[in-house]
Amino acid sequence: MVNIREEKASDAAAREALLDAAYGAARFAKTSERLREGRLPAERLSLVAVEDGRVIGTVRLWHVTAGPGCDALLLGPLAVDPACRKRGIGSALMRRAIARARMFGHRAILLVGDAPYYARFGFSAVATADLWMPGRFDQGRLLALALNPGALEGARGLISATGKVAPKPDLNTLIAARGDSRRANARKLVQRAA
Ligand SMILES: CC(C)(COP(=O)(O)OP(=O)(O)OC[C@H]1O[C@@H](n2cnc3c(N)ncnc32)[C@H](O)[C@@H]1OP(=O)(O)O)[C@@H](O)C(=O)NCCC(=O)NCCS
Repeated sequence: MVNIREEKASDAAAREALLDAAYGAARFAKTSERLREGRLPAERLSLVAVEDGRVIGTVRLWHVTAGPGCDALLLGPLAVDPACRKRGIGSALMRRAIARARMFGHRAILLVGDAPYYARFGFSAVATADLWMPGRFDQGRLLALALNPGALEGARGLISATGKVAPKPDLNTLIAARGDSRRANARKLVQRAA
């Protein structure tokens, strides 16, 4: 049975492996990553899908402002283990993430992704026409869902990160990490913290 729950610290390595499998190293070059790097995700809005004790899906949300004075969340990345796709796990993660964002009083969710997939959850590019990202982006893939009617009315300007700044990793501990995979993870953490 697939269980969707909040991410724990011990899920981080499995989550990163899942994201590598889904998006490859290019994920760090995405403009949406500029809104996540060096920040903590929104509280209680990092979710994983777990089956037989194994993390097979992930989604996280991040604090941003959709232009001045318009608080919102940025959703992503969403990924499901390639071996577990088309079983509704991505949809279950999306629905749970949206429901929790609403429950915690957030007003709107933005994301960059394929409209044919995200339209089923109510996302569209209609409300994002006057918003832009801090780097190259495709306007047709910048999507939004207003959790409160009118939450994105008048939203205009640059989308900026507003989440809490993440503590810098302890480099000595990272460098001392043994094993290839741990070294690779350490390099990624250092790159992301730079
Ligand atoms: C996108 C993703 C999270 C979906 O996970 P999932 O668990 O397979 O999703 P679900 O089972 O809820 O939905 C599967 C349906 O979505 C469709 N779908 C998947 N990716 C899609 C996309 N990029 N565009 C349109 N439809 C898509 C599938 O064809 C399938 O359709 P069906 O129900 O008619 O068979 C998963 O494919 C993934 O991790 N992909 C890698 C990242 C990626 O490509 N993201 C693209 C979106 S930005």
